[in-house]
Amino acid sequence: MSKVIAIMNEKGGCAKTTTATALAYLLAKQGKKTALIDYDGQANASLLMGVRNPLTLQVTVSNLLNCIIQEEQLPEPKTYIIKTDCGVDLIPANRKLASLERDLVSVNFREYILKQYVDTIRDNYDYVLIDCMPQMGTPMVNVLMCADSLIIPTQTEILSLQAVQELVKHYVKVKSKPFPFGNPKIEVEGILVTMDTQRTIVSAQMKDMIDGTFGGKLPIFDTCIPRSSKVAEAAMYGKTICEYMPRNKAALAYQNFAKELMKHE
Ligand SMILES: Nc1ncnc2c1ncn2[C@@H]1O[C@H](COP(=O)(O)OP(=O)(O)OP(=O)(O)O)[C@@H](O)[C@H]1O
Ligand SMILES: [Mg+2]
Repeated sequence: MSKVIAIMNEKGGCAKTTTATALAYLLAKQGKKTALIDYDGQANASLLMGVRNPLTLQVTVSNLLNCIIQEEQLPEPKTYIIKTDCGVDLIPANRKLASLERDLVSVNFREYILKQYVDTIRDNYDYVLIDCMPQMGTPMVNVLMCADSLIIPTQTEILSLQAVQELVKHYVKVKSKPFPFGNPKIEVEGILVTMDTQRTIVSAQMKDMIDGTFGGKLPIFDTCIPRSSKVAEAAMYGKTICEYMPRNKAALAYQNFAKELMKHE
């Protein structure tokens, strides 16, 4: 049974890509067949998986979704899936994905385009992770219709938390409607505190606020990912922190988070 997990929060820069790539790396290392869909025109997940120039790629996620939109035959997965050194199968993105919202405007069943694509590959994997773009809209509704579950990274900052509240509203709406109008099976794996500046008053206050707002309603991961300058350094080398410096405090926290997640199975 494969599981499609989206790493989602419309707030920019809250460590969606850092989390998605670290998790993909750790799952693959555990021997899980893992695909990572880069669903963001910034192509940050592709870069962190070692792709140097995404613009030169022949087939990216936007081509695949356009095949579905145009009702054309999809290319064979082996012709476009990038087998990364760390064992993750990457479905890369590039800037062309920025036009997806516009491309979807006049399409019938436009909320199901990503699901139609993911259904063609999901049976080949234990996990399909989706690294989401930082905005809501039809492309994100596509993710909510397609995912089995969500991981919601948030910084311990009020603006990030407000974005979580907005996302949860969309999640509740999609979950409350029967298929095909919604996705009643979707779950939240958990809210994940990222880039935590431990032992500060603001961080403690914000964690209390997260507990107060969502505790008992949605799961919250026990693990918090601490801030470390090495995370950005790893990115410079096109690697996740877990590969670049496995004993780093953020890498160790990501390992604990991955263990917590795998206990959900
Ligand atoms: N634990 C951490 N410690 C320090 N820096 C971090 C940590 N996690 C992420 N970062 C840095 O924060 C920035 C944003 O992270 P990331 O790109 O993962 O966020 P994002 O939510 O995917 O952003 P976007 O919304 O633009 O897609 C990056 O420069 C990344 O290197
Ligand atoms: Mg990102």
